[in-house]
Amino acid sequence: TGIELNNRGDPPMNQQQLTYSPFDPAVIEDPYPVYRELRENAPLFWSPAASTWVLSRYDDVSAALLDPETYSSASGIFPTPPGVDMTELFLPMLIMSDPPRHTQLRRLISKAFTPRRIAGLETRIQALVDDLLDQAPDTGTWDFVSGFAGPLPAIVIADMLGVPRNDRDRFRTWSTTLIQSSPIRGEFGPGLDAASALYEYFAAFLAERRAHPQDDLMTALVHAEVDGAYLSEEELLGFCLLLLVAGHETTTNLLSNSAVILAQHPESRRQLADHPHLVPAAVEELLRYDSPVQGLARTLTRQVDLHGQRMKTGDTVLLLFGSANRDDHAFPAPDNFDINRRPERQIAFGRGIHFCLGAALARLEAQIALQALLARRRDWDVDLNSAVRLRSGPIRGYVSLPVQWASA
Ligand code: HEM
Repeated sequence: TGIELNNRGDPPMNQQQLTYSPFDPAVIEDPYPVYRELRENAPLFWSPAASTWVLSRYDDVSAALLDPETYSSASGIFPTPPGVDMTELFLPMLIMSDPPRHTQLRRLISKAFTPRRIAGLETRIQALVDDLLDQAPDTGTWDFVSGFAGPLPAIVIADMLGVPRNDRDRFRTWSTTLIQSSPIRGEFGPGLDAASALYEYFAAFLAERRAHPQDDLMTALVHAEVDGAYLSEEELLGFCLLLLVAGHETTTNLLSNSAVILAQHPESRRQLADHPHLVPAAVEELLRYDSPVQGLARTLTRQVDLHGQRMKTGDTVLLLFGSANRDDHAFPAPDNFDINRRPERQIAFGRGIHFCLGAALARLEAQIALQALLARRRDWDVDLNSAVRLRSGPIRGYVSLPVQWASA
């Protein structure tokens, strides 16, 4: 099995003194100090508030991702309190499935995300980026999220799916509501409403594509077969929702987090503006340093002994990508933002069978966006006092982020 008992000479567990919940507002503000404590003092931590075990070290997170037989995705990937079954909340989805169904679904949809297909989007993404930047005001405050980081990935994914651009504002609201709703706080309501609004929209959309095929991803999926059978209506809707949320929320937050980090590291920003070819490597460091997806959960299919504790079959385990990416056993001086680092092992897109299907697309969007931004504006300030953080456990980013250009 993929899990080895760790032999780092761990200090005794000190769980009484350590509290951690992914939904704690202080953690959402800055999770990195508590991640360090978890890695050092409680590498396998039970979080009562989130009813989940928590793995925070790079090696442990990575080993769990590479052992999907033990660490199953099929019961959901967000930690939930006992008795709450997330599979009832979401339709069957690639990201919440195990082999063999996962293998079949992944093969099917991978065709839309081949390197060639993604590279083919470059010109369109560039035009879109230029168009959005043209609309930024020269003076005063610009909301980086609603003006740039939000619409860019939303339009790209809507185009891929074949969804009209006019509907994208509604989508953004639905998907942000969805990821901000938290079963832990008992706030199912708005998230469920948003999910059903999305399903309703997509059900009509799929029916339309069945009747009038187009050259888009949804038409392709409607007609796709696995072993001679079409995807079920629920699987099709699950795909729509997954691509929409994954395509919207993650890249948006990578861009917003990047705007903040670069403003806080003007030396790196200047270096990137002077040498745009360094941007792709910097994107990897931005992904490592402040990962848009901080953590996702798995459910144990068997009993696992780790770091002197026993986890039971059916227990939930939260895998903290955001902490793994700050582990000094994997990255020297991990709390330093260093664009000259080559963080090839960064794990912001996950690892193993569920490795992010949109990674190439997200990288391309971020590279083009940051190169274009730096070509026009090499100097900006972010107003973190008026910025609004996304209140989400798994996703790290901003709902709004006021940006000001320094006067030339
Ligand atoms: C899976 C992160 C952008 C589509 C994942 C996973 C992570 C991730 C960590 C693994 C989930 C797991 O192991 O349970 C990110 C980040 C992004 C990003 C940080 C941007 C910076 C995108 C985009 C798309 C996308 C733009 C699509 C347009 C998917 C899909 C999966 C996935 C479909 C599920 C793959 C599977 O289960 O086999 N992503 N993602 N992602 N991502 Fe992304």
